[in-house]
Amino acid sequence: MRNTSRRVVVVGTGFVGTSIAYAMVNQGITNELVLIDVNQDKAQGEALDLLDGIAWARENVKIWSGTYADCKEADVVVITAGANQKPGQTRLELVDINAKIMREIVQSVMATGFDGCLVIAANPVDVLTYVAWQTSNLPYSRVIGTGTTLDTTRFRKELALKLNIDPRSVHGYIIGEHGDSEVAVWSHTTVGAKPILELVVNNQYLTVDDLDEIAEKVKNAAYEIIDRKQATYYGIGLSTARIVKAILNNEQAILPVSAYLDGEYNQRDIFTGVPAIVNQNGVREIIELRIDPKEKLQFQASVDQLRQVLASVKS
Ligand code: LAC
Repeated sequence: MRNTSRRVVVVGTGFVGTSIAYAMVNQGITNELVLIDVNQDKAQGEALDLLDGIAWARENVKIWSGTYADCKEADVVVITAGANQKPGQTRLELVDINAKIMREIVQSVMATGFDGCLVIAANPVDVLTYVAWQTSNLPYSRVIGTGTTLDTTRFRKELALKLNIDPRSVHGYIIGEHGDSEVAVWSHTTVGAKPILELVVNNQYLTVDDLDEIAEKVKNAAYEIIDRKQATYYGIGLSTARIVKAILNNEQAILPVSAYLDGEYNQRDIFTGVPAIVNQNGVREIIELRIDPKEKLQFQASVDQLRQVLASVKS
């Protein structure tokens, strides 16, 4: 009988890792969930707590706290372990400590013979995804960072609130660094099929100031939350679960993940947030939007920022 198990391993059972785990259990995304943490009691406690709810979960799911040996049969390994932003701290400032942690974890995962997809949900995610790829020797298509998936949902939410529209009817992307240099692609943002820029003409519904305000709000969203609750985790939890679902279900879904650019957007040898088709093999193809000249300059600046930080940790 075909092996129908869909095993996801989550490394790191802090707020982000457990939010991803809870989202996957609640949505029935996987039927085998393994939690790994240096603090084994924490991983065990989280597994026991999640198990208490599985009678209400969408699918039956086996959950256990495990070891890296459980990665061998995994379809997806999600890596969340690492330090997170303190109030006022940028994501890029976490690179030194988190690159070291990322290398150690990926080495442990790959030593098991793991041959699935890696999903990176630790910051600075674009740089750490590159480090994970380099350490794993997996094809770059099978190493995916959460990228600007969360930023894009924030972007769609802010526009939806402004226009009193369902966020699922607002389409557009944030691209580039998951961070302070990210880029709102207004040139390709639509409400229904109507370009957003047509709504700005004659200040109908939106003004240019509204667009700037929304882009700024999205960029600073994490700081606003961290100032109030010291961390963010539900948004990234749901966003990461979305990416895992697209992989496990071979969806061919287009998501703005942190993907390896090999000439797309006139960039090479960098991971950053771009719309990409995601399926069981990871990134099938990158969608190259004809971004406008202003967006090109912003995107180049964002990639330049990432290259500068990457250079400091690239082996
Ligand atoms: C945030 C973290 C996940 O943007 O970087 O909430």
